[in-house]
Amino acid sequence: MRVLIIGTGGREHALALAIAADPAVTEVHAAPGNPGIAECATNHPVDPLSGPEVAALATRLGVDLVVVGPEAPLVAGVADPVREAGIAVFGPSGAAAKIEGSKTYAKEIMAAAGVPTAQARTCGTAAEIEAALDEFGPPYVVKDDGLAAGKGVVVTEDRGIAVEHALRCAPVVIEEFLDGPEVSLFAITDGTTVRPLRPAQDFKRAYDDDAGPNTGGMGAYTPLPWAPDDLVDDVLARVLQPTVDELRRRGTPFVGLLYAGLALTSRGLRVIEFNARFGDPETQALLPLLKTPLATLLAAAAAGELAAQPELEWADRAAVTVVLASNGYPESPRQGDQLTVAELPAGSHVVHAGTALDGQGRLVSAGGRVLAVVGIGADLDDARELAYRALTKIELEGSFYRRDIAAAAAAPVGS
Ligand code: AMP
Ligand code: GLY
Repeated sequence: MRVLIIGTGGREHALALAIAADPAVTEVHAAPGNPGIAECATNHPVDPLSGPEVAALATRLGVDLVVVGPEAPLVAGVADPVREAGIAVFGPSGAAAKIEGSKTYAKEIMAAAGVPTAQARTCGTAAEIEAALDEFGPPYVVKDDGLAAGKGVVVTEDRGIAVEHALRCAPVVIEEFLDGPEVSLFAITDGTTVRPLRPAQDFKRAYDDDAGPNTGGMGAYTPLPWAPDDLVDDVLARVLQPTVDELRRRGTPFVGLLYAGLALTSRGLRVIEFNARFGDPETQALLPLLKTPLATLLAAAAAGELAAQPELEWADRAAVTVVLASNGYPESPRQGDQLTVAELPAGSHVVHAGTALDGQGRLVSAGGRVLAVVGIGADLDDARELAYRALTKIELEGSFYRRDIAAAAAAPVGS
């Protein structure tokens, strides 16, 4: 099988590593890719937002499967011309990806499918904004309706800040505050059959103890020792399957990865958001533990044949991933600094995200989230220790990372 991965980040590097490890795979291509991906795939230049360009590349390479990684191409409908060219795609159509592209649309789908989520109002005017803020009270949750690369959501006790963000975003979604821990649960689906992965947890704030601005994600781990045993079954029955069924019923079947961002609140399970793609950095922690060959699984989903696939198999291990961010991330990440990676401890590896080669072929930073280290161990303690030891082998001036990824889960209070 020949596979083409569209995208350039850490999620795509993690996908490339897992796809390359599938014995059925003979060639892995990536576009645009990054220097880490180049170690296990052939990179090609492409405009990832251009469906015709992606379809032409896939046709020229003669690939059997295209996997579209990031949300922007999916929401732009890049999967559509590839499918029309007769090539199998793992990634939803533009119409189905709207579940991530518009928060109002996601709420509409959830209401129709009976999926539990925060109550919300979509507001277009200052009067509607004030009324919604009064209705729900503080803490205020104000969300840009469209894609905003992790920067569209403001959660604040400060009414002035809430109003200011709402006016900047309008139309804007204002919703009730959800308390309780967050869980990311991903599911592979062919539009009918749904196969959930293991739950993972992401750390969205930039600094330790959940301080600082929201980011794309600073680290993740799996499994979640504190989560209820029936969590996956519950989310499958009450969230994932009804959503997939509703999208199919509307004539826009979702073929790809449906990401449920969940809050386990004092009043029960609630969906915070849906994404139409693998999450970053949760994917970096999850995929190394998946024993089922990934490309075969994604190809079966793309072909509408997921029901015939065996149950997913997982290594009985734990994984922790920690993101190394460049100076100034997320507001104004510095780029172009030299990056050195010495030999890493066994059981850990690096996943590239914002890296590039300079004119002399040296590795340099080229984005906010530069890379992630992944530690895989017998338990979370072990996996954390490996990930943090790996970080001591990496040098990038001015960079930073969170020290507390998976700390609470690895050492529960009272242990
Ligand atoms: P989103 O882009 O919708 O995932 O939101 C980004 C982050 O904002 C989430 O991971 C939560 O930490 C927070 N958030 C979003 N919606 C809510 C809500 N209704 N209540 C509390 N926190 C929220
Ligand atoms: N980990 C958050 C995201 O991928 O959106």
